[in-house]
Amino acid sequence: MKTKLLLIIMGFILLLGAIGAYSQDEEIVVMDTSAFENTQRPASVFDHDIHNEMAGLEDDCAICHHVYDGKTLVEGESSEDSYCADCHSLSKTAENDVPLRAAYHKRCKSCHFETNKGPVLCGECHKN
Ligand code: HEC
Ligand code: HEC
Ligand code: HEC
Ligand code: HEC
Repeated sequence: MKTKLLLIIMGFILLLGAIGAYSQDEEIVVMDTSAFENTQRPASVFDHDIHNEMAGLEDDCAICHHVYDGKTLVEGESSEDSYCADCHSLSKTAENDVPLRAAYHKRCKSCHFETNKGPVLCGECHKN
């Protein structure tokens, strides 16, 4: 009887552990590529919080999550409640000249080039 109870308790602890591990997986560590129809590359690595802490970007969300009024950038506002794909389509549109892939590459790679930090080669971001 005691062993049975112990097993139940152990099972419960394991279950809690599994739930904990699962919720940690929900943080962004690689990009979500579902906005692209057919992907040619593995999803880019991007550990959101760690990346932004390492790069000193925690205070400036709008560097990536920007807001536009038409074609004019709105200073001092951020759009972290939206996906890039909400505004950037796969091909350019009348409202937005920057297709989704270019939006990511321009944002991510140009800062790495300019600061001479962070990956610029395809395989350094699109890791298998
Ligand atoms: C700084 C990181 C970074 C580098 C370097 C980089 N990419 Fe990307 N790329 C991304 C991100 C982020 C996306 C959008 C989400 C995703 O696909 O991971 C993307 C999307 C893509 C896509 C569209 C999605 C797909 O898989 O079809 C292609 C194609 C692509 N990249 C090819 C390349 C090629 C080729 C190079 C080198 C010339 C390159 N990338 C370099 C970050 C990078
Ligand atoms: C270096 C660029 C960058 C910076 C800086 C940045 N983010 Fe993000 N964030 C992203 C990308 C890329 C995504 C994925 C969204 C997408 O691909 O459409 C994302 C997604 C998110 C999401 C939605 C996904 C989730 O985990 O729920 C939230 C919320 C978010 N960011 C909040 C923030 C906040 C708050 C800040 C500032 C403290 C910030 N971000 C700074 C690039 C950035
Ligand atoms: C609320 C809508 C909206 C969201 C969300 C959005 N963008 Fe944009 N973005 C725009 C518009 C509009 C332009 C200007 C397009 C034009 O000039 O035709 C733009 C321009 C850009 C440019 C070119 C100008 C520059 O700043 O270098 C890049 C790169 C870019 N976006 C990347 C991103 C990335 C990466 C994300 C997600 C983290 C994102 N955008 C989210 C609307 C948005
Ligand atoms: C405003 C500047 C800036 C932007 C924008 C930016 N990065 Fe970075 N990134 C950095 C810096 C700085 C480092 C180096 C951090 C270090 O090693 O101290 C870095 C490092 C990285 C690394 C290697 C470290 C790691 O976390 O694995 C990856 C991968 C990366 N960036 C991907 C991306 C992607 C994908 C985007 C676009 C969604 C992006 N970065 C946008 C500045 C930036």
